Amino acid sequence: MARQKTIFVCQNCGYKAPKWLGRCPDCGAWNSLVEELAERGHRDREKRQPSLARPQRIDTVAIDKEARDKTGMSEFDRALGGGVVPGSLVLIGGDPGIGKSTLILQVVQRLARQGLRTLYISGEESVQQIKMRAQRISADSSELYLLSGTCLEDVIDRLDELAPRIIVIDSIQTIFTESLGSAPGSIGQVREVTSKLMSLAKGSGKAIFLIGHVTKDGAIAGPKVLEHLVDTVLYFEGDGSHMYRILRAVKNRYGPTNEIGVFEMSDKGLEEVGNPSKIFFEERASDVSGSVVISCMEGTRPLLVEMQALVCTSSLAMPRRTTIGVDPNRVSVLVAVLAKRGGVALSDKDIFVNVAGGIKIDEPAIDLGIISTTASSFLNKPIPRKTVTFGEVGLSGEVRGVSQTELRLKEAVKLGFSRCLLSKKSIKTLKTTVDMELTGVSSVTELLEVLF
Ligand code: TYD
Ligand code: MG
Repeated sequence: MARQKTIFVCQNCGYKAPKWLGRCPDCGAWNSLVEELAERGHRDREKRQPSLARPQRIDTVAIDKEARDKTGMSEFDRALGGGVVPGSLVLIGGDPGIGKSTLILQVVQRLARQGLRTLYISGEESVQQIKMRAQRISADSSELYLLSGTCLEDVIDRLDELAPRIIVIDSIQTIFTESLGSAPGSIGQVREVTSKLMSLAKGSGKAIFLIGHVTKDGAIAGPKVLEHLVDTVLYFEGDGSHMYRILRAVKNRYGPTNEIGVFEMSDKGLEEVGNPSKIFFEERASDVSGSVVISCMEGTRPLLVEMQALVCTSSLAMPRRTTIGVDPNRVSVLVAVLAKRGGVALSDKDIFVNVAGGIKIDEPAIDLGIISTTASSFLNKPIPRKTVTFGEVGLSGEVRGVSQTELRLKEAVKLGFSRCLLSKKSIKTLKTTVDMELTGVSSVTELLEVLF
């Protein structure tokens, strides 16, 4: 195939150059030129067949009910918003070695077992290496095909004879298109390959999964540059030392975002964690200060996690505020609120806040948890084991209600908690009764009185 004409475009200002340049002569940005296909000119337009259908009235558009293919792996289906949508392009990003290839192999194995023909294309491993991994997770469906290759055009040639319904590209950084001269993994390549795959998916109704490694800044482009191009972006997170992995939907054209699926890495691949709340506070030490369980929402699902704090006297001029799993700025603000409104002297204390289990949480409902556990550690008084809490705290020390109160409470009841500390307003808005003692607090001072 003759190489198409390419140009180099500055990503900063749009300047076009026929050759790569280290610095854009127009805006002066360094290393901003990326190879792209030259625009298809008028000639193409004349040759083009009208491929667009005619505009359709919205009330006449028919959709198949339940057009999704369920993988049967409920944590994965949940993150996707209920299953695989035909014709969708899904990006799964994550750090190298976190388990992306393992996850996707398990997913397509299940789809293949239902009779959906699947092609797994790897640019990283040979077919034998994939088979070795497949043996560990006992994937051996006859509808699962493996291909090792890195050239997109070669791969597309193979699609006609096989006619797969599901395609996996592992990873996007190793596949290149012949139309660009730049190296595989460069921004230009990754973008062009993705947009070609997008039109393949939309044109043929095949669902395509792309694996993308999150990389440090460098010559290799990561999933961030693709987020706007694909339908769904899932991130597979977790740190290598913890066995729990979280699959998080950060963008989804076909479902809610912020949904998470929880998995555990074992020697037989990834196992679903059916009741994630339980694992995040299961190994809680009994009756120690600086620990409380909070009820937070991850997407549509309530999740109970243990929030820990350690307050100790600092020997530094500027005491430390270190956090794991929560935003350090949020902790700094809450510590200031606790000091000012609650009268707890923390200015000479090192404060460490940690969410147990290696999960990251980012929602205002954790405020009350951070305040309670910090105060508990400072006073060295444990919070009763069966107490759960959630609520937002403002700068004047007021406690505010958060959304989904009922769901959060129900999850806590289910897991055996007997008392909840929450904002007074949240209690008033409750529509159903819950089988636990509800203590309403309206300010940080009141919270401290109730607790200690
Ligand atoms: P892998 O899926 O290759 O990661 P990625 O594609 O994201 O780079 O798997 C990474 C790790 O998972 C590897 O260090 C080995 C481990 N692993 C298990 O612990 N159990 C298993 O059954 C498998 C297949 C892998
Ligand atoms: Mg891999």
